[in-house]
Amino acid sequence: MTDFSNPQAYERWMGRWSACLAPLFVRFAGLGSPGRYLDVGAGTGVLARAIADEFGDAEVVGIEPVASYVDHARARLRDPRFRFELGDAQAIPFDNDSFDAALALLLLQEVPDAPMAVGECAASRARVVA
Ligand SMILES: C[S@@+](CC[C@H](N)C(=O)[O-])C[C@H]1O[C@@H](n2cnc3c(N)ncnc32)[C@H](O)[C@@H]1O
Repeated sequence: MTDFSNPQAYERWMGRWSACLAPLFVRFAGLGSPGRYLDVGAGTGVLARAIADEFGDAEVVGIEPVASYVDHARARLRDPRFRFELGDAQAIPFDNDSFDAALALLLLQEVPDAPMAVGECAASRARVVA
């Protein structure tokens, strides 16, 4: 498992690439309209921002287990459309069917029990794209 601890280092290393990938991933997901979306393994908030860029009225909740990343995403995306919380993809801390879709970008290779994470995503939403 990769060591994710420094959000500034992540931005320089991987975040600049995931920022290129995220808008393409959002369009690939075919979300279709503004809604309430879950970004699982949100990291520094790259995918959440791409969703909001595509759908101005979208509400995005990001979950991420690393506190420094959650703090970074909150500081970077100060807007009521975004919410970032500590959370594990293998035990998503929301009721079933809380979201229109659950998305995960560059996450599943990091999760010890990826099938469990996909199942949790499926319970949280109407659609899963990972
Ligand atoms: C390669 S980064 C991708 C971050 C972001 N989605 C992006 O595209 O920039 C993987 C992220 O998954 C997070 N992560 C690792 N294990 C996780 C788990 N069990 N549940 C949720 N997120 C996890 C890491 O902390 C890291 O922020």
